[in-house]
This record gives sequence, C-alpha cells and structure tokens, in this order.
Amino acid sequence: MEENLNVIPRIGDQAPDFTAVTTKGTIKFSDYAKDKWMVLFSHPADFTPVCTTEMSGFAERKGEFDALNTELMGLSIDSIHAHLAWVNNVRKNTGVYFDFPIIADIDMKVSKLYGMLQPNESETAAVRAVFFIDPSKKIRLIMYYPLNVGRNMDEILRVLEGLQISDANKVALPLNWTKGDRVIVPPPSNLEEMQERIDGEYAEKVDFYLVKKDL
Ligand code: BEZ
Repeated sequence: MEENLNVIPRIGDQAPDFTAVTTKGTIKFSDYAKDKWMVLFSHPADFTPVCTTEMSGFAERKGEFDALNTELMGLSIDSIHAHLAWVNNVRKNTGVYFDFPIIADIDMKVSKLYGMLQPNESETAAVRAVFFIDPSKKIRLIMYYPLNVGRNMDEILRVLEGLQISDANKVALPLNWTKGDRVIVPPPSNLEEMQERIDGEYAEKVDFYLVKKDL
C-alpha cells in the first residue's frame, strides 16, 4: 500500500512516538527527556557542508538549550556508522562535539512520521525540519527549510524562549520580539476585559486590542 507522506504532524498535535537507534543508544521518544522541552531536528546528510555548520551550531550553543530546560535530538537518513564517523571527524577537525543523540533513520520511519521527507525536494534525504516539543510532548512550533538554505540558530533559540515566556506569563509576542522587549497583553475576549484594556495603565497602547506591557 502507498504511504501517505502528506499526513504530517501539525502545531498542537501530540508528538508521534517512536523508538530509534541514535548515537546515544536506542531511545524510546516518549520515555526520553521527561519534564523537558525538546528540539527535534533533521538534516539532509552527514559529511555535507551546510549540515556540518548547522550541527556545529547546535553543539556550540547546547549550553543555551540546557539553560532553557531543553534537550536536542538530531536525525538524518544515514546509518549509525556514518553518524559515528561524522561526529568523530568533526570533533577531530574542529574540536566541536555533537553531544546529543542523532537518530540513524535508515528506514525513514521517523522522518516519514514527522513529515521530514518531502519527496519533491528530495526522495532520499530529510529536509531541514525543526520541531519544538513541550514537556507534555505537544508540538508547539514547526520550521521546515529546504536542502540548500541553513537555519538560523538565533531564531531557533528566540522562538524556544518566546514559547516558554509566552506560556509562563500568558502573553503574546510581537513582530521581531527579543528577550527584554515589551510583550502583548492578550486581546480581550469579553466586554469587561475590553474596558480593562481601555482604562488600565499600560506601557504602550494603540487601542484596546493592541496593548503592551513590560515583564
Ligand atoms: C549540505 O548540507 O551542504 C547539503 C546537504 C544536502 C544537499 C545539499 C546541501
């Protein structure tokens, strides 16, 4: 039977569970990183230039992900042997160590489950996907990049921290928000809340539906 690659997880869905061979041993996703955020990301292929820069970017900024209570997990449709050789090669050449699990998705099971295999871009390599998964294992944000354009680590960390700040403070974040900027008070959902936005003292107010405050 033909598999339907168009059925892919969406924001708000529970992250599909899987068991996979990784550079840190076999991992059952639902048992991994309990009570933590996860950034699950794919790259097209080991021993390729853009992927090496991206993977190194994740490794070099792992401390910032740790500080945000977040575990990293990479994936590509390569064998565990290729992964091990690549991790070793990059460490030898640059000193950067990929100290997080990388899934060897040689049977494409996980990449299909997560819509990382987009055949009109490549039939054999995963696109550059990033899934932001909260501690309840709900998918909160998804990025997809093509094979020829690398991702932006500042943006990955910005949206991860943004999700956490938004959750913790029940606020929304405006265009180009970065940490320390004013945040948006959620728009009113009833007349009482509308009046409160009109009468309340706020750092910035355009009208009742666009009100900002400092955290
Ligand atoms: C790269 O990472 O450089 C790359 C991988 C697959 C296709 C094109 C570029």
